Amino acid sequence: MSKPYLHGHHASVLKSHTWRTVENSCPHLIPYLSSPSLQILDVGCGPGTITVDLASRVPQGLVYGIDPSADVIAKARKHAEEKGVTNVRFEVGDVFDWERLDGVEQGSFDVVHAHQVLQHLQDPRGALVEMKKLAKAEGGIVAVRDADYAAMTWYPGDIPGLQTWQRLYIAVARSIKCDPNIGRRLHAVALEAGFPRSDIDASCGVWTFSTPDELAWWCGLWAERVVQSNFKKSAIESGLATEEDLQAVAQSWRELEKREDGWFAVPNGQVICHVRS
Ligand SMILES: C[S@@+](CC[C@H](N)C(=O)[O-])C[C@H]1O[C@@H](n2cnc3c(N)ncnc32)[C@H](O)[C@@H]1O
Repeated sequence: MSKPYLHGHHASVLKSHTWRTVENSCPHLIPYLSSPSLQILDVGCGPGTITVDLASRVPQGLVYGIDPSADVIAKARKHAEEKGVTNVRFEVGDVFDWERLDGVEQGSFDVVHAHQVLQHLQDPRGALVEMKKLAKAEGGIVAVRDADYAAMTWYPGDIPGLQTWQRLYIAVARSIKCDPNIGRRLHAVALEAGFPRSDIDASCGVWTFSTPDELAWWCGLWAERVVQSNFKKSAIESGLATEEDLQAVAQSWRELEKREDGWFAVPNGQVICHVRS
């Protein structure tokens, strides 16, 4: 069974997940969404905003979202209902245990997608092997995208608590045997999972937060996350930070938020792996 998800699904975490759309979170996938009848599996779908957006782009197809968290699956179902999107199905499920899911069959999906999921798994190669099995044997694709925490950068660079945040985040993720910098090596993980190099397209997409509204949103959610989500619990329990350290980090996020010249960039590695028999 998989380890619990590092961030948990606190409101401050869901604030960033529910902002996500196909356009801002899987631009690498858009060229592959031209047929309206695609069958898509969204692994680790979280609250389902990307999943529902995918479904609205394939009105004659079906998008299936799975996530091990029952709470977040309930939120995803509610979101689909509110949007009036009916060609989407959400089930509690784990990528390593897909056999027990009704309607999830080997070789049955045109697209098997995961956004910001591999960084949270102890066995990302194994996850890609399972995702590859689920894609159609001829012409299916596996699409993944993950941030790279070590490559995140910002201005002004001299807010000391933000460097502490970056080091701390990376250390906490590594303490639970996950790779917070997996974004830069998704293509290498795909190679290890058995995709030939010629069938892997690797690229990078960047989220940038620089207007006052963008900074208020991004910095505000991290200021909350570091003192309220599961991340806080993991940081303290692993002995990597104290409550005071985390309060200082939250304060630094608030400082960046107020800066008229503030700027923050999140590079995301993204790969499309083509399945050919
Ligand atoms: C950062 S969230 C991403 C959510 C969504 N893909 C998005 O981008 O908005 C990572 C999600 O992966 C889920 N997850 C963790 N382990 C998983 C596993 N073994 N199989 C499927 N999903 C998993 C978590 O529960 C969490 O909702």
